[in-house]
Amino acid sequence: MERECRFGIEGMSVHVPRHCIDLGTLAAARGIDPAKYYEGLGGRRMAVVSPDEDPVTMAAEAARRLVARHDVDRSEIGMVVVGSETGVDAAKPIASYVHGLIGLSPQCRTFDTQHACYGATAALQLAAGWCIQGNGSRRKAIVIATDIARYEVGSAGEPTQGAGAIAMLVSCEPRVVAFDRHDEAVFTQDVMDFWRPHYRSTAMVDGRHSLDCYLRALEHTWDAYLGSSGLRFEDFRHLLFHVPFPKMAHKAFHRLHELEAARRGVAMPPAEAMFDTLTRPSLWANVEVGNIYSGSLYLALAGLLEQGDAAIEGARLGLFSYGSGCCAEFYSVLVGPDATAWRGRIGVAEALAGRVEVDYPTYVEMRTRSEGMAGDGSFREPVHPGNGRVRFLGVRDHRRVYQAHISPGGDQLRSCTSRACAGAGSG
Ligand code: COA
Repeated sequence: MERECRFGIEGMSVHVPRHCIDLGTLAAARGIDPAKYYEGLGGRRMAVVSPDEDPVTMAAEAARRLVARHDVDRSEIGMVVVGSETGVDAAKPIASYVHGLIGLSPQCRTFDTQHACYGATAALQLAAGWCIQGNGSRRKAIVIATDIARYEVGSAGEPTQGAGAIAMLVSCEPRVVAFDRHDEAVFTQDVMDFWRPHYRSTAMVDGRHSLDCYLRALEHTWDAYLGSSGLRFEDFRHLLFHVPFPKMAHKAFHRLHELEAARRGVAMPPAEAMFDTLTRPSLWANVEVGNIYSGSLYLALAGLLEQGDAAIEGARLGLFSYGSGCCAEFYSVLVGPDATAWRGRIGVAEALAGRVEVDYPTYVEMRTRSEGMAGDGSFREPVHPGNGRVRFLGVRDHRRVYQAHISPGGDQLRSCTSRACAGAGSG
């Protein structure tokens, strides 16, 4: 049963920090069997941010790549929405910094959306609705998921940390994936499973409770989606889930398998074999990067689209988005034609290939220095200006200061402080 889909994602780009740590290195420092992290949680490495990286720099890097690689005309972007739960200011949105750093037109809405790891899905749905309202006027939006997942040193959540950003061009020319928004399956419940008070830089989590909340929300949205769409389990070529750690997607798939077996009342093919086909191909990048909160589901999508089999064109993918607190949504997309035209532009493998692995003392030092960058007076003159990346230089006079540069390829970036950005962006 195929229905008309006229909006969705036209292009995607991924950015991950340059540094990472092997979970075995972390396990050794904690005196824990590495198999707990590798097999019990399903991760291999996690991204580690440098002091000059933050949610703004990651978002700007992902957006810069999106603009450059997907031949985006900056003047056509009428909306930038950033989904994040690690915003850098209580008032000024990340979207505003990104708008200035990549030089977009002033005729543009900019704002952030926040609901834990659901924020980017909320942003995508909003942006898609806005594109449709344009009624053929070629509206285009950039939606970015950007987050740093940070837990207390030595806590159970620490091995699930990560960082990264995904930028998506949303339009009525959905070359990569088209949304099927005919059926809405959402679920909200006021729960305390994961949260971060304003006075903390690290998240609090009731770990086991969060897994229960996640699975309950999955059951509700899955039932609602099948009920309203008339689609069946076998209509999905792949099932993708929010990935706070890779084993969670495994648990989620197994829960759907149980539900489906109960619904059919007959034996299903073994769950593990089905997981290997339907979900595992989406997890390879998450295994390397760790949790990127609002971007985790979209990193899985990017990974699948980049390295999934060539015959993926036209396939229906089921996506489950979950944000603690909680709000969840199940929806589906149809992969666009001509994957050879966009597959290589997503850049997941490329982003991972250039990474540098750090040892445990370096990880601790980097995280300590990163957390020290938030206070006023942390600004430092750049030691090596113009190294090709967007950099966070610190806080001066209560303003965050960013440095960027213009590459020979013309993928323009601007230097920016919160004051300078106010007048920038004439694109
Ligand atoms: N070899 C292989 N597996 C091992 C192991 C070993 N030596 N030791 C433990 N494990 C397995 C456990 O059996 C368990 O698997 P299971 O969940 O399938 O039963 C898994 O590793 C985790 O072990 P556990 O003792 O439960 O870990 P923990 O108390 O350290 O906490 C989390 C695990 C997931 C609860 C914790 O990492 C956390 O809070 N993470 C953040 C949760 C989150 O992101 N929530 C957001 C909402 S989505």
